[in-house]
Amino acid sequence: MMKVFEHINQLQQAINAEKLKGKSIGFVPTMGALHAGHLELMRQARKETAILVVSIFVNPIQFNNPADLENYPRTLESDKEMLESVGCDFLFVPTEQEMYPEPDKTVFHFGKLATVMEGAFRPGHFNGVGVVVSKLFNIVMPDKAFFGEKDFQQLAIIKAMVKQLKINVEVVACPTVREPDGLAMSSRNRRLSTEERVLAPQIYQVLKKAAQLRNVLSPDEMQQYASKQLKAVEAFDLEYVSVADDVELQSFEHWNDIDGARIFVALQLGNVRLIDNVRIF
Ligand code: PAF
Repeated sequence: MMKVFEHINQLQQAINAEKLKGKSIGFVPTMGALHAGHLELMRQARKETAILVVSIFVNPIQFNNPADLENYPRTLESDKEMLESVGCDFLFVPTEQEMYPEPDKTVFHFGKLATVMEGAFRPGHFNGVGVVVSKLFNIVMPDKAFFGEKDFQQLAIIKAMVKQLKINVEVVACPTVREPDGLAMSSRNRRLSTEERVLAPQIYQVLKKAAQLRNVLSPDEMQQYASKQLKAVEAFDLEYVSVADDVELQSFEHWNDIDGARIFVALQLGNVRLIDNVRIF
């Protein structure tokens, strides 16, 4: 039976009791509106750790757009049912007051990792993510924490933060889960209209096709190819396409310059902002 906590000290007591029994702690932080992608993170956590802790907190300070925060889906009752179904042990649902009794003034310096892509288009976003995830790590003190590769830059930022702050947690990356038509699972997908939902899978199709052209296109040409294909869909309001290395997420000139690369995209479809990325090699 899943136990639900609103208060930090009660959650910590429950976690400490399990730690004393020698149990390892797996943690999946979320903002709720759970989907199959989240459940995959939880299944992975269940495989690798004894006790599964999940948090649901729509973190206001990581939203640079007030309308996005207001419209962010909130589905706590169905989230709880899904969590029971994957065997979540402890669910943490703090209030804003519990997490931020006073405004947080922490400023992270993630260097060039945070200046590109989401960092450039969503000012303050990664600082807000860094603040909340570091607080949650301090509260839960998990052995392992699980994040999806759909938010690849977030994953890189969290790895960098864990290293910077010497937090004793293993960050586990889990592959993006897709709908049968290729659309990356996201809590925001449920805000797409029927027409928009039909168009959205083209994002993945373009990225996949572009990545397959690695032997015939330079990194810059691949970026241009994908931009052109996506711009051809009138409903897509493209923010960026980036072909970047998979560590620092910087663009580069030649495939030989780096060990691994991905192609990234962000676009607005109606009033829903979607991101995705695909491994090139
Ligand atoms: O990926 C998310 O859902 C959020 O950014 C996270 C990691 C839960 C922090 O609020």
